[in-house]
Parts: sequence; C-alpha cells; structure tokens
Amino acid sequence: MADQKKILKFPEEFLWGAATSAYQVEGGNTNDWSEWEKKNAERLAGEAKTKWAKWQQKKFPEMFDSENYICGQACDHYNRYEEDFDIAKSLGLNAFRISIEWSRIEPEEGKFDEKEIEHYRKVISAIRARGMEPFVTLWHWTNPIWLAEIGGPASKKFPLYFTRYTKYIIENLGKNVNFWITLNEPTSVISNSYISGNWPPQKRNPFCVFRVYKYLSYAHNQAYDEIHKINPKYKVGFANIISFLEPFNQESFLDKIAVRLFKYFATYRFMNLTKDKNDFLALQYYFHNRIKFPGTRRNKNKSISDLGWEIYPEGIYHILKDLKKYNLPIYITENGLADAKDEIREKFIKDHLRWIRKAIQEGADVRGYFHWSLLDNFEWDKGFWPRFGLVEMDYKTMERKIRPSAFVYKKICESNSLAI
Ligand code: BGC
Repeated sequence: MADQKKILKFPEEFLWGAATSAYQVEGGNTNDWSEWEKKNAERLAGEAKTKWAKWQQKKFPEMFDSENYICGQACDHYNRYEEDFDIAKSLGLNAFRISIEWSRIEPEEGKFDEKEIEHYRKVISAIRARGMEPFVTLWHWTNPIWLAEIGGPASKKFPLYFTRYTKYIIENLGKNVNFWITLNEPTSVISNSYISGNWPPQKRNPFCVFRVYKYLSYAHNQAYDEIHKINPKYKVGFANIISFLEPFNQESFLDKIAVRLFKYFATYRFMNLTKDKNDFLALQYYFHNRIKFPGTRRNKNKSISDLGWEIYPEGIYHILKDLKKYNLPIYITENGLADAKDEIREKFIKDHLRWIRKAIQEGADVRGYFHWSLLDNFEWDKGFWPRFGLVEMDYKTMERKIRPSAFVYKKICESNSLAI
C-alpha cells in the first residue's frame, strides 16, 4: 500500500536516552567556568554583534544581555532532578547520561564532601528507580578552582588528582552504575581552550596543546585501570566528538592531506594515546566539514541549526562505518541541535536514526543513542540562547515544557523502531 510506513527495528536491548552535564543544568556551581563568566560576560555580550548573523541576532536578542552568559541557577536540576527524570521516563527513555561536578565533590584539594556524594547517590538511585540505565561522566570540562589554579588539564598533576577523584567516586557510587565515561570530548577542550583560546583558561599555546593531550590521556588511562581494579566488570570509555570530514575537492591532493591532518588531531591522536583502555566507544556527532587546504571550511549548509551548524545526518553513517575497525561496542552519547522553535528537531532525529540504523545493518555494533539534551541548558561561552532541549526551559519560572519533537522521540524509544 502506498501510504504504508516502513518500520526500521533497532537491536534488542538498545538503549534510548538523553544526555546532560552537571554544570550546564544543575545550577549553583562554583568552578573555573563560573569564575571566568563573571569576568567575561560583558565582553561576550558585546561581541555578539560581530559574531552572529543578523537573523540570529534578531531571533535571539538575549545574546546581547550579559546575564545570558552567567550560568547561575541554570535549570536548577540540582534540586529538580526527580521532576526531570520523571519527564525522561515519561518519554520512554531507558537510559540517561549525567555528569558529576568535581568542584562539588572535592571543593578543596584532598577534601571530599560527603554531602555531595550523598546527593549523587540519590540522583543515580532516582535514575535507576525509573528503569533507566545511568551513564556517568566524571569530567565534563569544569574544574575545581584549586585545580584550575595549577593549570587544570595542562598540569602534570591532573592525572593523579583525576584518578584519586575517580577512585572516590567509584568506591562510593559504583554499586549502581555500569557505564563510566571518564572525560567528555578531550579534543574540544584542546581546541577551544588552547588553540582558539575562546574558553577558559584562554591560553593559545602550542606547548599546552601537547601537554593537554598527554595529561588528559594519562588521566583517562590511569582512571581506566583504577576503575577496573575496583570492578573489572565496569565498562569504561571517553566521550569522543567526531566530525565527518571530507576534502572540499575530492580530487585535490592538498585538500585530502588537510583532511588527514584534521582527522589525526581531532580523532585518532587521542584514540591512539588511549589504545587498549576503552571498553566501548562513545561517539558524539555534531559536525560535517568539507575542508579546503590549508584548513577552511566550505559547507553547503542546505539545512542549519540556530547556531548555524550544518545538519548532515549522513555523516554519522560514515563515522560509524569507520569506527567498526576498533571492534568495540559503540554508544552515541550525544547528538542534537539548537532549534528553539522545534521546527527541525523531529526530522533531525529521524534522519540521524535512519543513517544509524543503516550502519547497524551493515555491521556497526551500535548499542545506544542519547539525544543532546533533555533540557535546554547553558551552552558554555554562548550562554542560554541556543536551545538544545527535547524539553523547553522557562528560565524565569523554571517551568519545563515538553516539545512536540520529544513525543516523536518517545514513540521511537517505546517501540524500539523508527517508522518512515
Ligand atoms: C558538549 C556539550 C554541548 C554540546 C552542544 C558537546 O560538544 O559535550 O556540553 O552542550 O556539544 O554544543
């Protein structure tokens, strides 16, 4: 029949989730980012005029307000996590990704706060109580101030401190968690903090770049061993942002070289440095880039998000096919878009899932998909205006409102299939 839909089934026990990170949703945190915002909010509001296109400026006038760049109470998820997990459950999710805020757990070097560990114990139990599998990230970019003061991930001591913090977390929270993500997107920090210098500590320095590769990979590797010492059954990985990169001109030798170099620094270098210390791959997919030598981006941008990022669902398929060579289970721990009006989120989700399903059919061992994000949240140096949520936030009243696309996602999660 002409109007009959095709049903694309996903593997049994596939995990359907949403992802969050502590700093972006919790509120009330004091760390290197909160300190940096105080000093930079005015500047960021001023720069919005030159940084964003006219249509974006018109659509999101809040980008000119310095308040937009102060995380403050964020979504008050720290106090409202039960309500948020109720929403997640109502959407049919069977998995949920959170992160632990290190600055809460160890506000002073070597002093661990039992009250805060108790908080996360409750958070994880609340996820479990709703039938969702928790994925817990240990470091989603923010550092306690004492650690930032000695250089954060550029400090030789970072691996040692990170491993000690990890040990404390696993010993206290391990009972209820199977999946641990040590670090979120190491290469995003390397590029945004130490190459472009946009994020704290705003250090454009090639020596730092190589130091941070080194110390973050040591941190991951040592934490991996520590976690396995406590329980060899735990599954450990790091969240890896992988863009789909193509030469602008498929025939051009130089464009191809540029792509190879980008791929090496953005993906393979960190993978090589953590070789044999990953139980799964955690893929985060946002970008497609057509690279023209020596490194400019020339995308077609037929469809873009509110941030102007090209939407290119096919890219995830090529990445998944490439990741097959590692022979590890793959979880897509982030994929999403800024779409305040929820005009293209439904199509975005369906199109990406269609390509993911195709990769699975062709042998990629994908076991889960976490949409970024459950809620609108604090988008780092861009603040609150980009809206990534399946659920819309009213930051004044803290009211949560489920977006229409979330109900479409719910259907997919509950039926473990996509109807096209
Ligand atoms: C990060 C998130 C961020 C999202 C959207 C990912 O790279 O892990 O923290 O909000 O992208 O930019």
